[in-house]
Amino acid sequence: MRHRCGGCGNEWEDGSWRSTCSRCGQTVTGTPPPVRGPEHPEKLIQVLLSLQKERGWLSRETLKEVSRRLGAPLSVVYQVATFYKAFSLAPRGKHHLRVCMGTACQIRGSPALLERVRQLLGVEPGETTADGKFTLETVNCLGCCAMGPVMMVDDRYFGRLGVSQVEKVVKSFG
Ligand code: FES
Repeated sequence: MRHRCGGCGNEWEDGSWRSTCSRCGQTVTGTPPPVRGPEHPEKLIQVLLSLQKERGWLSRETLKEVSRRLGAPLSVVYQVATFYKAFSLAPRGKHHLRVCMGTACQIRGSPALLERVRQLLGVEPGETTADGKFTLETVNCLGCCAMGPVMMVDDRYFGRLGVSQVEKVVKSFG
């Protein structure tokens, strides 16, 4: 599996999907294994992306339906749906809040950002607030390390974010 570290740019190959950068210690995921089953593998990803956007998450019934319609084994559909962070197999909140915990962002203070978000929302990463407004997640890199620390809410990036600014950002989506 080919890996490229989003934090320091190091590149390497090994046999696992997830690997740790020997230069900076960041955990990264590699290119997924080839999808076997549907005639056009990219179509599976497109269909899942479209359903994720339309329904907010991918239920077991949805994945079964995709498997049947595309002629892809259910195991392959699950493999893809669980590999990409863009897909959720559980209902998500109205807003998807991601705090980057990649090396570049950690150095610039993302742990304090995450702590502030946890205080404000009262949830841990991977959880959804009781009112269904926010789902909190951490990610290894959002691809804009120079703007660190970075937080993302839905499609919007908030870079060089100070702890004191977090509440204002969160409330603007509440
Ligand atoms: S480490 Fe790359 S955006 Fe945070």
